[in-house]
Amino acid sequence: MNAYAAVDVIRTKRDGGVLSDGQIDWVVDAYTRGRVADEQMSALAMAILLRGMTPAEIARWTAAMIASGERLDLSGVSRPTADKHSTGGVGDKITLPLTPLVAACGAAVPQLSGRGLGHTGGTLDKLESIPGWRAALGNAEFIAQLREVGAVICAAGEGLAPADRKLYALRDVTGTVEAIPLIASSIMSKKIAEGTGALVLDVKVGSGAFMKAESDARELARTMVELGGAHGVRTVALLTDMSTPLGLTVGNAVEVAESVEVLAGGGPADVVELTLALAREMLAAAGLPDADPERALRDGRAMDVWRTMIRAQGGDPDAPLPVAAEVEVVRADRDGFVSAVDAYGIGIAAWRLGAGRARKEDPVSAAAGVVLHRRPGDPVRAGDPLYELRTDDPERIPAARAEAAAAVLVSGQRPAVTPLVIDRIG
Ligand code: URA
Repeated sequence: MNAYAAVDVIRTKRDGGVLSDGQIDWVVDAYTRGRVADEQMSALAMAILLRGMTPAEIARWTAAMIASGERLDLSGVSRPTADKHSTGGVGDKITLPLTPLVAACGAAVPQLSGRGLGHTGGTLDKLESIPGWRAALGNAEFIAQLREVGAVICAAGEGLAPADRKLYALRDVTGTVEAIPLIASSIMSKKIAEGTGALVLDVKVGSGAFMKAESDARELARTMVELGGAHGVRTVALLTDMSTPLGLTVGNAVEVAESVEVLAGGGPADVVELTLALAREMLAAAGLPDADPERALRDGRAMDVWRTMIRAQGGDPDAPLPVAAEVEVVRADRDGFVSAVDAYGIGIAAWRLGAGRARKEDPVSAAAGVVLHRRPGDPVRAGDPLYELRTDDPERIPAARAEAAAAVLVSGQRPAVTPLVIDRIG
């Protein structure tokens, strides 16, 4: 016999009530087992989106999602563990240089990553442009690589927070992704179940982010930092700007190439700045505050870990990356300054070129994407290249061209400089 009726749980939240611990434990478990129907969980998710949840409800909901699956035990890894999670953006390749960099400084980095959906890219899609590289590792392989190399980027196994896997797919098609309690519990249940000791959250704000408003991003960051602390994971968050893409590349292989430039001691200033800011936070949270990530980038140690990490998962770090069959260079039609490069518009352009997917089972093109030649604030002369559209399929160019043209603006005035790291919450 059921302890609760789903319809009563839905009514409680619909009417603005507080769910009891028993109701939460039951509904999450029963949904995972298929005893609460999708239409009932959709109604509950919508009620949560509209009514919100108290901190105690969010904590219990997160605990119930963790309890729906396994919790990895990383106690056999001798180094302190630290992970990073970004809420997702455009050109956000930071995980690629950051993971080997932090490992080169003495921590172990268990980075369970995802694939892109819509206008945001996914770390696994980017790494799969490296010939031979394999995203799927079993738990034993994952822990062995963490011990031996100190750095793993791979797909989360089926056993971690299965309630979230099911609920996220449902939220995606019912307009309920944007509920802060559901986003926070979704992200944190996976990170806590993964077993990391420390976690740094990169909470994005701006047109290319989930959270367009800074107040929402702050609330999400605070909620996740509290959840981490309550589960014994040292958690801090950086609030960072996502109104402009990170770096000069948006796509898959093009972002790998840019990450390798950063590991070689070069790369765009904003990518280097954010990589170092997150590395310092991860190392401090892991109890290694004296490590010097800037030096590990300069002296090649981070690059050495990158090469070992890629090889450990079957990839060839020296193999040429895929190149696009079709490249269109778009040039400035006047003198002036680049006044805006809108992250959302460029993310959509890269998606239209084939770099992203509309449904989670769609394939992505490794070579497709947008390469910027100028960033906001850069001066340009009429005829200078502004950006390139790259694709395997020329029929994709017109739609991408229209999106990119609306996203990249040239005007007579240099725009104000805005900070990349907006705040630290923790
Ligand atoms: N990423 C997640 O893992 N979950 C969400 O709900 C939103 C973004």
